[in-house]
Amino acid sequence: MAASKDQVLNALAKVPSPGGAPLPEARVLSDIVVSDGKVFFSITVDAAAVKAWEPVRKAAEDAVRAVPGVQSALVALTAERSPGAARAPQPAAGGKPAPRPAHPADAVQPGVPGVEAVIAVASGKGGVGKSTTAVNLALGLRDLGLKVGMLDADIYGPSLPKLLAIKEKPQTIGGTRLKPIERYGLTVMSIGFLIDEETPMIWRGPMVMSAITQMLREVEWGKLDIMVVDMPPGTGDAQLTMAQQVPLKGAVIVSTPQDLALIDARRGVSMFNRVNVPVLGLVENMSYFLCPSCGERSDIFGHGGAHKEAERLGVPFLGEVPLHMTIREKSDSGLPVVATEPDGPHAKIYRDIAAKVWDQIKPGAAAGRAAPKIVIEA
Ligand SMILES: Nc1ncnc2c1ncn2[C@@H]1O[C@H](COP(=O)(O)OP(=O)(O)OP(=O)(O)O)[C@@H](O)[C@H]1O
Ligand SMILES: [Mg+2]
Repeated sequence: MAASKDQVLNALAKVPSPGGAPLPEARVLSDIVVSDGKVFFSITVDAAAVKAWEPVRKAAEDAVRAVPGVQSALVALTAERSPGAARAPQPAAGGKPAPRPAHPADAVQPGVPGVEAVIAVASGKGGVGKSTTAVNLALGLRDLGLKVGMLDADIYGPSLPKLLAIKEKPQTIGGTRLKPIERYGLTVMSIGFLIDEETPMIWRGPMVMSAITQMLREVEWGKLDIMVVDMPPGTGDAQLTMAQQVPLKGAVIVSTPQDLALIDARRGVSMFNRVNVPVLGLVENMSYFLCPSCGERSDIFGHGGAHKEAERLGVPFLGEVPLHMTIREKSDSGLPVVATEPDGPHAKIYRDIAAKVWDQIKPGAAAGRAAPKIVIEA
């Protein structure tokens, strides 16, 4: 017989927290996911208390595994951003999101050691070319003479292994820290290096935050001027939590020109506004069609929508990238255009976008301060 959530909670009641209270009463548990005999949940504690909680995590896992009907259990220990900081929204019992803190971004998020600035590349909608833009933007920043890192935080569809043709697994240093992969002068880490493609979605969702925290804090990033994070598409609670947990200096939103994509892009802008992360601007991808043989340009999607939308939202417009076979072929075979056709027209577009981004991020710049706050409920 399959195990129930109550059985799991009963088992956890026998596990004491470091303060002595039974685990379910310690107010540290996320929602408990029970599916097909697999159990997952996370324990969120103060960063300073992680050591004391590790044996509890282990004991909780053992206790859950001993429940009849449980085949496997995974308990993740996630650290609060800083002692006393507001907590990111965690799913509450019953699966409903907990109320958001009133001013989430007022809580100080620790930066990533050695990394000057972290920016996100996001889109309200999937498949708009976010990862392609993120990679070429990172390479454009590299061409400005910067030391650039890339973090693939797209848990549902990690793209960097493919877009940068990376097959190797990161090595560990001293048994605990991971060494990122170097490609085209970028320092790269992807959730795709850590999570097996076969891992079912139900596991991935709850695993995301501890995996992201690990990738930020337990990877030897070295000294970076800027880290570009490829975010998962969408504007749901998972994305919002991530936008809060990653110490972002700004966000770039990618959209295609169609109305429906633009509505999603607006939600993206709104999401970052909500967590007080400045929106560095909008990129219109697949903006117009460039015929590969004759070079003629046609505005098949009603090009220019994102430009108007950026004006409407009061955020910078960063540039238009054409829909072009070269971009697709290069991107999908791990040979991004900025690295492999640096003198071509597409590379120039991405470099111009990178320059507009860096102007807002570089030391002394006031990233996005003038942008008005627009919050649109999703
Ligand atoms: N400007 C472009 N011209 C032609 N093809 C493009 C362009 N931008 C992206 N593509 C192609 O579109 C597809 C989707 O791009 P990409 O994977 O970058 O999107 P995404 O928004 O990250 O998708 P997902 O939501 O799945 O993560 C890829 O095959 C990519 O090569
Ligand atoms: Mg992607």
